[in-house]
Amino acid sequence: MYRYRVPVSIKEVAAHAGVSVATVSNVLNRPDVVAEATRERVNASIQELGFVRNESARQLRAGRSRMIGLVVLDVANPFFTDLARGVEDEASKAGLAVILCNSDDQESKEARYLELLEEHRVQGVLITPGAGAGARLEALRRRGVPAVLVDRRSDSDDQCSVSVDDVRGGDLAVSHLLAGGHQRIAYVSGPSAVRQVADRREGALRALDRAGRAAGELRVIEASGLNVAAGQRAGATVAGTSADARPTAVFCANDLIALGVLQELTRSRIRVPEDVALVGYDDIDFAAAAAVPLTSVRQPRQDLGRTAARLLLEEAAADAGHEPAAGVHEHSQVVFQPELVTRESTLGPHSQGGW
Ligand code: RIB
Repeated sequence: MYRYRVPVSIKEVAAHAGVSVATVSNVLNRPDVVAEATRERVNASIQELGFVRNESARQLRAGRSRMIGLVVLDVANPFFTDLARGVEDEASKAGLAVILCNSDDQESKEARYLELLEEHRVQGVLITPGAGAGARLEALRRRGVPAVLVDRRSDSDDQCSVSVDDVRGGDLAVSHLLAGGHQRIAYVSGPSAVRQVADRREGALRALDRAGRAAGELRVIEASGLNVAAGQRAGATVAGTSADARPTAVFCANDLIALGVLQELTRSRIRVPEDVALVGYDDIDFAAAAAVPLTSVRQPRQDLGRTAARLLLEEAAADAGHEPAAGVHEHSQVVFQPELVTRESTLGPHSQGGW
């Protein structure tokens, strides 16, 4: 049976190693100022006694924990787990842990998580914000907790953000389909309240306009979510359209939707790309591994995470007056460019003609 033991104190370690408490504290926090022999003796005592530093006490003294918060829309979407991997890489280099929060794009959940992260004295917050987050993030900053928008460009230059040019991404996707001779193109959108989704649609319309086509020629199917199930339902809508009116190409707001559409078209015996070409967005690993490898607009997911974390840690260090950015931090809005990755789901002749 587990028997609770009173934690070993720093005083016990000092007595065991024959040094002062200050020397033990230096070994833990500034080992470079302690002679190697003394450092080894103290570490041996720490190991032998099973000493574990008291993070709560340290946090009370320092005022900040050794954690950062990451609030994303949907942890089930590999886009965000890849992004979180980039955040964690950067945070762990700085000796920090990451608290991952899932807002489900729900304002109440997002607000609760922001309160929780502040209560835990995080160094700062990375967030893919839902509607209305702006005021909460501004209040957080006023209380000394910096925030960086990730996967969303900031509307103002006094807020750091890291994003991808999603308008260009939508343009790349539909330009590729137009170049393939497709006349009847559909965009399976997610909830249009999600800024990334709206930007991709804007890019799709820009590509049509450049080709001299009217905006009304883009058939928009608004999926109920940004996930596979929503894609399956959208796929059923496409499959249910008579062949002579059915889109010959479908651009989806993200890869999860595209995988759902692919599944439903295949179940309905509609061939991809011969009958319907398909383009996704994000280029998650499952895109290349799909039954018909998916053409997708690639987002640099881990780079987004690494860059956002770096900006946040710079701002937190500046706010705390720590090197290297003591007192000086220039807010920046980093925008990455998307890249079209073509695969089998759009290559080769399609069986249907134009409108
Ligand atoms: O969160 C929904 C989508 O927006 C993700 O798939 C990713 O594309 C993000 O930009």
